[in-house]
Amino acid sequence: MSTYGHLFRVTTFGESHCASVGAIIDGCPPGLTLSPEDIQIQLDRRRPGQSDLTTPRNEKDRVHLQSGLELGVTLGTPIALLVKNEDQRPHDYSETDSYPRPSHADYTYLEKYGVKASSGGGRSSARETIGRVAAGAIAEKYLKTAFGIEVIAFVSSVGKINIPSSVPSSLPSNEDDDEVEDALSEEFRNLLATVTREQVDQHPTRCPHPETAERMTKRIIRAKDTSDSIGGIVTCVIRNVPSGLGEPCFDKFEATLAHAMLSIPATKAFEIGSGFRGTQVPGSKHNDAFVRRDDGRLGTKTNWSGGVQGGITNGEDIYFRLGFKSPATISQAQDTAQYDGTPGSLAARGRHDPCVVPRAVPIVEAMASLVVMDQLLIQNARKTAASLLPPITTLPPTMVMPVLTVDFLFLFASAFPIAPSFAVPAVDFFLSILFLLEPLVLLTASLIPFAFHVC
Ligand SMILES: Cc1cc2nc3c(=O)[nH]c(=O)nc-3n(C[C@H](O)[C@H](O)[C@H](O)COP(=O)(O)O)c2cc1C
Repeated sequence: MSTYGHLFRVTTFGESHCASVGAIIDGCPPGLTLSPEDIQIQLDRRRPGQSDLTTPRNEKDRVHLQSGLELGVTLGTPIALLVKNEDQRPHDYSETDSYPRPSHADYTYLEKYGVKASSGGGRSSARETIGRVAAGAIAEKYLKTAFGIEVIAFVSSVGKINIPSSVPSSLPSNEDDDEVEDALSEEFRNLLATVTREQVDQHPTRCPHPETAERMTKRIIRAKDTSDSIGGIVTCVIRNVPSGLGEPCFDKFEATLAHAMLSIPATKAFEIGSGFRGTQVPGSKHNDAFVRRDDGRLGTKTNWSGGVQGGITNGEDIYFRLGFKSPATISQAQDTAQYDGTPGSLAARGRHDPCVVPRAVPIVEAMASLVVMDQLLIQNARKTAASLLPPITTLPPTMVMPVLTVDFLFLFASAFPIAPSFAVPAVDFFLSILFLLEPLVLLTASLIPFAFHVC
């Protein structure tokens, strides 16, 4: 379907050569400050014609907001937005009237619907992703404003060229040897922890490792000069995601993430955390041991799980990789067959990306934001519903989340039916002060047994 999400629901519309493409977003929280610029910035990172490394199709991709906000503030009503298709050249596709492009979607769309758009990829074209990127920018604005969540994607591989140690270098030579190189080097893990969008955008490849970026450029130019194409990998990290997101069993966080990511055109592989490499590491080395964080809550010492356990986020950074194939449309002649089976040779015309990963970066960020946004609204709805019930007192402590001293007060307060009009903000303020004092309370509590021991 063309709709994604449950509570933050995005429907995209449009084909590559129709009047416009765009999205309708239902479920955006009211009261979010939003300007067209918040959206345009990501559309500009996605648009074609940005550099020699992408298709020269020249689209400005200006966003037109139609509804759902007034005076720069969202109303909670559906947001409709569109982008006009301007630089269309349908005649570029005349040879594909008789030839389905190998490894593109022409044949399968026709098999499925019995009819297809007359030129270009129609719905399968990357122009469809404009609606996703625009909707993702809105979700991202909310996530950043309300939770400080950051979503950063970057190009980590093009063809066989990788950011050092971003992919495992070799399989272990001795199958009985448990010494396996870490799935990700320390250097790459540091990059994941610190990389910024500014660093990513410093090079047209969107690879934040300058020396690797130069080699990637040469590889993409070589593909272009030989009328060919090449694939690559986008890595993404999501920081400051609260624990508790994800809906077992079928909508586990990583399942929805994989679903969203593999819905992006040209994707062929998805790995989260240690991924396939983790399968070679014994549990004794792969387990993420728990540690107490500075705020008194549990965290993990390592993060091979990629921030998700049991399909639920654990509060650590979420990181994953997405493999993009080499684009299908190439102007090099390929032996293939026409729709009626007649053998022939196709050298596709048209303006195409020799490698999609530099432009895929904002699309990956958008889909990641949509997943987190939807899961966050679902979990917040559940938490709000539960907070209206009296505290649990009848169950053994092993069954209930050990509440910290101040959380007791929160539960206690939430058990009272307070009129929401003016009393709740005051209670919230009181509780936030207590929350800030929580580490102090915990420290004092942890000193009590020590004091007894000394006595
Ligand atoms: C940003 C981006 C740009 C793309 N540009 C092209 C392109 O210029 N030519 C092409 O054949 N495919 C391109 N694709 C991929 C096709 O849309 C995709 O391969 C095609 O619809 C078939 O779908 P599938 O690869 O998911 O099976 C692009 C994909 C993305 C994400």
